[in-house]
Amino acid sequence: MIRAVSTPNIALIKYWGNRNEPFRLPAADSLSMTLDTPNVEVGIDFADTFSMQSFNPDGTEKNLSTQQMYRIEEHIGLMNTYLGSIGIRVKGNVTLQIHSHIPASVGLASSAAVFSGIARAYSALLDEGLTEQEISVMSRLGSGSASRTTYGGFVSMIVTGDGIGDSYAEQIADEDHWKLSDIILIPNRDEKKVGSTEGHALASTSPYFKQRISDIPTRQAECINAILKKDFEKLQSVSEIDALDMHHVMETSTPVLQYLSAETHRIIDEVKALRSAKHLEVLFTMDAGPTVHLLCTEDAKTEVLAYAKSQTQCTIFETQIGPGSHIL
Ligand code: PMV
Repeated sequence: MIRAVSTPNIALIKYWGNRNEPFRLPAADSLSMTLDTPNVEVGIDFADTFSMQSFNPDGTEKNLSTQQMYRIEEHIGLMNTYLGSIGIRVKGNVTLQIHSHIPASVGLASSAAVFSGIARAYSALLDEGLTEQEISVMSRLGSGSASRTTYGGFVSMIVTGDGIGDSYAEQIADEDHWKLSDIILIPNRDEKKVGSTEGHALASTSPYFKQRISDIPTRQAECINAILKKDFEKLQSVSEIDALDMHHVMETSTPVLQYLSAETHRIIDEVKALRSAKHLEVLFTMDAGPTVHLLCTEDAKTEVLAYAKSQTQCTIFETQIGPGSHIL
């Protein structure tokens, strides 16, 4: 059995909305930082029929819903369709084992880690010399943001056309470029009601979606520049604008998608107060859930961690920049 490991990433320019739903072709570019933890381990082998087992963080076997099983089987099918389009024919099926150390559905991008781990393991099993770009396409076919965890460090996901292979990830800078941490505060562990797959399909119902899509190229360029120059102030302003803009689109779509909670807003307000009182290099961002990610520099880390630990009702993860999906 081939084993791969992968992790979530945190988006600084958010991917929300597709130009093609079944192929998960994004409506716009996005950018993220790959995290080093918590991880998901994926084992894969050839088999006559598709089967899979999934395990909880405590090692107990997890009962997957028919929908979850179907999504993974569909991912294998889509990867095979893509491989066919680049001249690689796959015969037979696979068996999978997934060990996750990520609490499910808390806006911590467990799907990004799972699907990039599956794509990485599958590419090694096939042993066809697939490129990193091709593996990022295969990851995207399970979950758009998974594409970005193909690489470590700071990663963009670009869209170049309407074909199945026309959106993939590119590394902006590797994991040694800038020592940032992501202190993650999870206010509650309730499963979210609307997953991002369904959410993407609603994005275009917001009257603010078109404006968002036309603003992204400038923001993406500013974000890349801020990363390359290690300009935290710029990174903070552009990523916070983009996160709040994505949530504005979500909250004005039909039906309304409300991922942020009163706790999220309280934490944001307190972090803003803390950073101006103590001149800290810390920024906040949220994906599709109430979880708050506090990205900070080494100088700000002690203060940010102390604040996070004072939030006794939150689950806290302390993460750094990671290397991306890889074979064990
Ligand atoms: O990869 P998906 O389909 O789970 O979508 C991810 C969406 C966000 O996490 C909200 C934003 C992003 O770019 O990661």
